[in-house]
Amino acid sequence: MLHDAGYVSIASTMDPCEVCELHRQNRYDLVLLDLQMPGMDGFQVMEGLKKIETDGYLPVLVITAQPGHKLRALKAGAKDFVSKPFDLGEVLIRVYNMLEVRLLHLEIKRLFNQLVADDALLKKEISERKQIQEALHRTQAQLSVYVGQLEGLVAERTSEWTAANKQLEASVSGLRKANEEHQALLFESNIMREKLTQLTRQVIMAQEELRKEISRELHDGVVQALIAINVELSALSNEASLGARTMKKKLAGTQQLVEKSVVEVHRYARNLRPAMLDDLGLIPALHAYCKTLTARKKIEFHLTAIAEVETLGDDERTVLFRVAQEALTNVVRHARATQVTICISKILGAIRMEIGDNGKSFLVAKIVAAINPKRLGILGMKERIEMVGGKLFIESIRGKGTTVCAEIPFTVKEIPVLLNEA
Ligand SMILES: Nc1ncnc2c1ncn2[C@@H]1O[C@H](COP(=O)(O)OP(=O)(O)OP(=O)(O)O)[C@@H](O)[C@H]1O
Ligand SMILES: [Mg+2]
Repeated sequence: MLHDAGYVSIASTMDPCEVCELHRQNRYDLVLLDLQMPGMDGFQVMEGLKKIETDGYLPVLVITAQPGHKLRALKAGAKDFVSKPFDLGEVLIRVYNMLEVRLLHLEIKRLFNQLVADDALLKKEISERKQIQEALHRTQAQLSVYVGQLEGLVAERTSEWTAANKQLEASVSGLRKANEEHQALLFESNIMREKLTQLTRQVIMAQEELRKEISRELHDGVVQALIAINVELSALSNEASLGARTMKKKLAGTQQLVEKSVVEVHRYARNLRPAMLDDLGLIPALHAYCKTLTARKKIEFHLTAIAEVETLGDDERTVLFRVAQEALTNVVRHARATQVTICISKILGAIRMEIGDNGKSFLVAKIVAAINPKRLGILGMKERIEMVGGKLFIESIRGKGTTVCAEIPFTVKEIPVLLNEA
């Protein structure tokens, strides 16, 4: 009958003991149950089915011929009943209705389950959100503490930096000021040095002029006068009139004094400006000067010179003579030397004069660096040489002695004559 009505998933059994097991396996949507069966009646089967359908819905449609069983069956959990003998159409409608109720029941159950699941999910979500919110609040509180600390730190650092910056600015401006002052001082000192150099040169030139003049005056004036006195005194002694002998003696003594004066004045004149330098040249003048020094000190002088030196201008030769004069005076005064070599030679583009002694040494750099108004010899030599565009070097070696070396630019054609003087 059910097959004919279009139902496809149908199982049936005549054994009431199988029903529960079959339902457990297949979970039928509808069980059409006869109440009167051999061995086990429908009420017992329903009790078994209740244990399987724990949610209380028993999809059972009972079939009974006894009217008293209808109510009992409904009380036992059956959802409907069909009376025997049954009308086919009624049975199908009841089956259809039962199935519909069953499906609705299942749908409600499914929806309920889903609702429960959604609710659990929602609860979980809410609790998670709560946790997140709490964590957020905690973080925010911590953050605001950090922000407060950070702001304090920033304010502290800012004030430190501002102070340091101010200090730095002050030092920079101080440094700048000091630098400006230093520059101004340097500038001033450069001007002063320049002026000093100029003045020194002027003094040296004026000195030279003065020496020339004094020398001429000594020679032309004093020496001539002394000679005249001497001549007169000689005449006087020859007269031999009054108090003859004593007078003669006196006069002779005076004469000797006058002669000595003449020699002395000559020496002065030579020292100031040797006439030989102008009349005969540098080499004879140097030679004569060495001779006068030999007379005063036991020093051996050895002079070697090239002839071209005499082709130098007056100024250059005077400079060389003055440098030699100062260097030789220094040897006599300070070196305690026994031998001195003066060598005038030619090098590339210059004439070189070397004056070397075998005396004691001294610290050249220290002497040159020290400002001592009483020691102007070396300074003067340097200035004189530089005045004519030359250079001066001094080397002093312990156990060997001192060498003064002066170089003067020289470009005149070579004259192949070598002159040695000793
Ligand atoms: N040939 C030398 N041997 C040893 N010492 C020397 C020699 N030449 C110079 N000196 C040292 O160098 C110093 C400086 O010499 P410098 O000629 O400049 O001055 P000074 O001779 O002392 O005085 P002045 O101004 O009268 O020349 C000398 O005092 C001396 O100590
Ligand atoms: Mg000197």
